[in-house]
Amino acid sequence: MKVVVLGAAGGIGQPLSLLLKMQLPAGSELALYDPAPMTRGVAVDLSHIPSRVQVAGFTGRDPSAALAGADIVLIPAGIARKPGMERSDLFKFNAGIIMDLVQHCGRVCPKALIAIITNPVNSMVPIAAEVLTQLGVYDPRRLFGLTSLDVARSESFCLDMNREVDAPVVPVVGGHSGLTIVPLFSHVAEHYTDEQLRALIARVQQAGTEVVEAKAGAGSATLAMAYAALRFCLSLVRAKQGEADIREYAYIEGGHPQARFFSQPMLLGPDGVAQVLDYSPVHSVEQAAIDGMLPTLNQEIQQGIDYARNVLQD
Ligand code: NAI
Repeated sequence: MKVVVLGAAGGIGQPLSLLLKMQLPAGSELALYDPAPMTRGVAVDLSHIPSRVQVAGFTGRDPSAALAGADIVLIPAGIARKPGMERSDLFKFNAGIIMDLVQHCGRVCPKALIAIITNPVNSMVPIAAEVLTQLGVYDPRRLFGLTSLDVARSESFCLDMNREVDAPVVPVVGGHSGLTIVPLFSHVAEHYTDEQLRALIARVQQAGTEVVEAKAGAGSATLAMAYAALRFCLSLVRAKQGEADIREYAYIEGGHPQARFFSQPMLLGPDGVAQVLDYSPVHSVEQAAIDGMLPTLNQEIQQGIDYARNVLQD
């Protein structure tokens, strides 16, 4: 199994690479790419951790050598938020980075599973889909936007409130920006009032901003994101190795009648998404949140598609 991290020297990339070095199955390869010159040093540093995972670092302007033979590509490359910024403010910086990196993925490892962490996820995944389509290698089963941090946060807030719940399951649907993030706390056995549900939805929607403000200009979520990306990656690995019934949540194409891309539960298989799962029942408070955010989600999807089509035409 070869896992590649693009953006490996960054705030997310480094702890994610550390976790992967420690937790990928024995015999795996881990390739770290980042234009930052320190990337080879990050790989050397990690190589001193005793595990049967081979790690190599790549820098320069071309990620092709890192991507050769990749099974899974995780992308936390690009700029993160500072206080006062929305995820959408990152579009103009990160759209070009994602286009370039996904073009290399499509050419070098067209069968790899690609998981995009870079924000705004709602627009970056449509950009990636357009790039892969133009290269003739797009398979919606293999392309994911990472929303596993929203799931981890929802579970964590649930644990904070309910000491008797051991492993809460809180599906998060919609997208990964502000109002488009809709956690379904009604799925937790505990009964919440309408007001509590509204407050919990708002807390998860604002959780990223809470971290950005607390870090006071030094970046956004990195450590919990690294954990959430590790968790998602290990699910992809287990599914690729043939384990059945691996349930995950991510932002993918298909499965929702009113948005081309949507975060939702799914079963994973060796080729990526094996089956999109139904997330009903949905409480009326949650349904109102979904209905209310769909125009925003669709606009962010369209922004990505329009950007990619314009650039690809030139
Ligand atoms: P960072 O600025 O610490 O690291 C980004 C890394 O990307 C840097 O090392 C930089 O050299 C590298 N990079 C820049 N251009 C590149 C290119 N063309 N190819 C490969 N690497 C390149 O940022 P951080 O905190 O690691 O965040 C990365 C992204 O993840 C941001 O866009 C952030 O908004 C997003 N994010 C997403 C979350 C999610 O839930 N999906 C949660 C938190 C952050």
